[in-house]
Amino acid sequence: MNAIICSGYIFILYLLHLQQVAVADDGSYVPTENIVLSCGSSTSEFVQYDGRKWNGDIVSPNVPSDADTKSQAVRAPNTLQSIPEVPYMTARIFHSAFTYTFNVTPGPKFIRLHFYPASYINLNISNAFLSVSAANFTLLHNFSASLNADYFNLAYFIKEFIVHVSGSVLQLTFSPSYNSSHAFAFVNGIEVVSMPLNLYTMGGDDAPLPLVGHNKVVNIYNDTAMENLHRLNVGGEQIPPKYDTGMFRSWDSDEVYILGANIGIQFSNMSMLVSYSDNAPPYSSPADVYRTSRSMAPFLGGIVNLNYNLTWFFPIDSGFLYLVRLHFCEIDEDITKMNQVVFTIFLNNQTADEQFDVIGWGGKPGAAVHKDYVVMVPHVDEGKQDLWLDLHPNKDSKPMYYNSFLNGVEIFKLSNFGDKSLAGINPSENLVKAPHVAHFNKSSKKLKFVLIGCGLLAVVLPILLCLLLFRLKVIKLRRVVSWCGLTVHAPDRIEKAKKSSLCTQFSMQEIKLATNDFHEDLLIGSGGFGNVYKGSFTGGTTYVAIKRANPMSEQGVSEFETEILLLSQLRHHNLVSLLGYCNEDGEMILVYELMANGSLHHHLHLRQRDESTLGWIQRLEICIGVARGLHYLHTGTKHRIIHRDIKTTNILLDHNWVPKISDFGLSKAGYPSLVTTNVKGSIGYLDPECYERHKLSEKSDVYSLGVVLLEVLTARPAVSVGEDDDEHVNLAEWTMSCVENGNVEQIVDPKLNEKIIKECFELYLGVAMKCLAERGAERPCIGEVLENLVLAMHLQKNEGRVQNGNERINDNVVLQGNSDLTPGVEFSEIMTPIGR
Ligand SMILES: *[C@@H]1O[C@H](CO)[C@@H](O)[C@H](O)[C@H]1NC(C)=O
Ligand SMILES: *[C@@H]1O[C@H](CO)[C@@H](O)[C@H](O)[C@H]1NC(C)=O
Ligand SMILES: *[C@@H]1O[C@H](CO)[C@@H](O)[C@H](O)[C@H]1NC(C)=O
Ligand SMILES: *[C@@H]1O[C@H](CO)[C@@H](O)[C@H](O)[C@H]1NC(C)=O
Ligand SMILES: *[C@@H]1O[C@H](CO)[C@@H](O)[C@H](O)[C@H]1NC(C)=O
Ligand SMILES: *[C@@H]1O[C@H](CO)[C@@H](O)[C@H](O)[C@H]1NC(C)=O
Ligand SMILES: *[C@@H]1O[C@H](CO)[C@@H](O)[C@H](O)[C@H]1NC(C)=O
Ligand SMILES: *[C@@H]1O[C@H](CO)[C@@H](O)[C@H](O)[C@H]1NC(C)=O
Repeated sequence: MNAIICSGYIFILYLLHLQQVAVADDGSYVPTENIVLSCGSSTSEFVQYDGRKWNGDIVSPNVPSDADTKSQAVRAPNTLQSIPEVPYMTARIFHSAFTYTFNVTPGPKFIRLHFYPASYINLNISNAFLSVSAANFTLLHNFSASLNADYFNLAYFIKEFIVHVSGSVLQLTFSPSYNSSHAFAFVNGIEVVSMPLNLYTMGGDDAPLPLVGHNKVVNIYNDTAMENLHRLNVGGEQIPPKYDTGMFRSWDSDEVYILGANIGIQFSNMSMLVSYSDNAPPYSSPADVYRTSRSMAPFLGGIVNLNYNLTWFFPIDSGFLYLVRLHFCEIDEDITKMNQVVFTIFLNNQTADEQFDVIGWGGKPGAAVHKDYVVMVPHVDEGKQDLWLDLHPNKDSKPMYYNSFLNGVEIFKLSNFGDKSLAGINPSENLVKAPHVAHFNKSSKKLKFVLIGCGLLAVVLPILLCLLLFRLKVIKLRRVVSWCGLTVHAPDRIEKAKKSSLCTQFSMQEIKLATNDFHEDLLIGSGGFGNVYKGSFTGGTTYVAIKRANPMSEQGVSEFETEILLLSQLRHHNLVSLLGYCNEDGEMILVYELMANGSLHHHLHLRQRDESTLGWIQRLEICIGVARGLHYLHTGTKHRIIHRDIKTTNILLDHNWVPKISDFGLSKAGYPSLVTTNVKGSIGYLDPECYERHKLSEKSDVYSLGVVLLEVLTARPAVSVGEDDDEHVNLAEWTMSCVENGNVEQIVDPKLNEKIIKECFELYLGVAMKCLAERGAERPCIGEVLENLVLAMHLQKNEGRVQNGNERINDNVVLQGNSDLTPGVEFSEIMTPIGR
């Protein structure tokens, strides 16, 4: 009887709980307020990439009536980078305090501020130091958007805060931090989005959270404001705001945060039915966060896994408490019971959970769970430091498998109690850049440990060890930083490269030893630049690719320099890593990581009998990787980089089939001018606009990528010899004519065994054709291409359906005979992924 009353009571509580949260049929949250303002703009109802209608603040009731006298609405200068028009190309500039007023319901709100530090109306953006406050909290103080953009190597970014509004008004005040004539503040976009009560803070009967390493607990109530610093879909794709569970949060991929250590494997089960609970209600995070994970390699019961940690590093501000939320879901069909996988969670080298068992916590496979911890990060002078997250199999609990994994992570800075502030210190210009570069130096100690541990097992596990040791060697090589006196024409770039270069200078003797004096048995390729050898600095356990320039090649010198200058500063999962170089004895030699699976060109056109055909999903994955690499080059770095020679021979595949863009010899970085006198590139891939009008832009790479996309679909070379021997058939034109004649199906590679889902095919071909538009301006930017390729992958995997929403991104791509598939059709919604 008691039990019935009790469960009835719980049921009523549950209903009450539900009433507080407006939930859609699919379980996602329906925000009461969802205000999006494009500052300094008068356009209304502009549909942005996130699917929301953005309004210019000039026409909004949120600005005071005397806004014109207190601030200026300005436009950003034109740029060649692919920056989304709304909200970044307009801004509001403040020379004194300025308050936006929002009428809202009481409760917690996301406040997102969008910044694009550019030179607005002759103002020097380095003078913008701004303070922002809301609901009596200081969100930002003395904040320099340009120093932060430099540090994170981003052109534009978002700051996300959470504050609790007690009344019905939220006031957001911007002011310059200094009182001098040239001081100013600015903002490009503002979002105010409501969220469910107690999503991140504690309700009345929630247990307090452990303070890691202090044997104490912490309560986080609604009197704490937060700033989200990281939100990652670990082991998976970026999830853009549109596909969040109604709150427009962005979930990034974890790739750059795990680089350098042993990165484990990405594991996913997209058909997993995720079961939510009170601990993790359906709106708390998208199912795709739980469907992908990063885990240690499961081979041989995971005995090797005892030798290392799965480690992530997150740049954060020192001097604050942090809320760390870890998301887990067991998606491996072999793991169904407790005590099969148990691991220890360390935060900042302190034990946060000694024996964590995901099934034990969630009750069953597929159960979504999250766990919260609070970490205290003491103040250090530089202001920035890394928060470490380590996972290690727990041996003491005698689990069946030695493994550990993670599905998602969110990290929040908590406001200080005393001054109610979230403001950190600006990164100084001398700091090592985050997050791409910072990791390498720091992981060295750990890795030595792995080296010794693995050494003991070498007899049993030679293959696995090769993989592990290879990574070690890479790291060790990168630790030694040096630079030789290359004569290049841009001294400031060399200075910069010296500071951040991660590549080693090798002696000729080392190179000769590694390649057995350039023995022809080790020759693995040759091209215009010279020969490529497989070599080893460790006597055969780990291999590298060594490229030796042909001494006869005059043109080589500048390409050699360009390659070192650019590649030594770039780090991305989809760019080939330059480990070092040698320029002794008049030789020009470059040392790269070895790409075990050769070039994409090889697999499409020169496949040997014993090699299997690339599957469609695998091909899509490769295209997405290439688009990611290009996206990083075009927008992820401060000075956009145009590769200029994207083709299937320059797309290399590592042992996991991850594509890496190589050969930066022709690339151009940060070039202000549009006109090049020097048309370079490869026949069949060369942008007609660049060729005819000498106009060079990122869109030239987009064109070449379009050719690659067609090559991947058709397995026909970019240029082939026609029926008449001297007629050359250009792949782009051939495909175009097939499409026009309605022979669309015939273009697909006949060797492809898998069926391509119709929706996926249409989208993919549509994207490729748009990339091949005659005029650069009509081609999509790389962000759109990437987004649509990811969507094509979703469509293929889900048989034509899109998760988290019924609508397709570009319904206007229809492929029927003589359709409206003219290159240059506008995408109905534009997507450019944003980092933070
Ligand atoms: C902007 O200001 C910074 C620091 O005050 C200065 O170093 C820089 O040269 C200025 N840039 C321009 C274009 O005036
Ligand atoms: C801010 O603090 C003042 C004084 O403590 C208080 O009167 C006011 O209600 C607070 N405002 C908000 C929005 O909490
Ligand atoms: C915090 O919660 C308490 C009760 O749960 C409520 O009375 C108060 O108004 C809330 N404060 C804010 C700022 O939301
Ligand atoms: C800036 O100067 C104005 C006028 O001189 C003054 O009213 C205001 O209080 C000053 N602000 C700060 C933060 O010092
Ligand atoms: C994926 O999840 C489904 C449903 O939970 C399960 O039946 C299937 O075996 C899983 N696949 C893998 C590869 O784990
Ligand atoms: C954690 O340990 C590593 C080396 O073991 C060290 O480099 C790092 O600074 C430590 N991190 C913190 C936050 O103490
Ligand atoms: C894993 O990380 C923890 C915490 O930093 C450290 O104490 C431990 O030694 C690491 N284990 C290995 C094998 O690197
Ligand atoms: C504001 O930030 C700049 C740049 O980081 C720094 O040099 C300056 O000292 C800071 N000013 C204050 C008052 O903190």
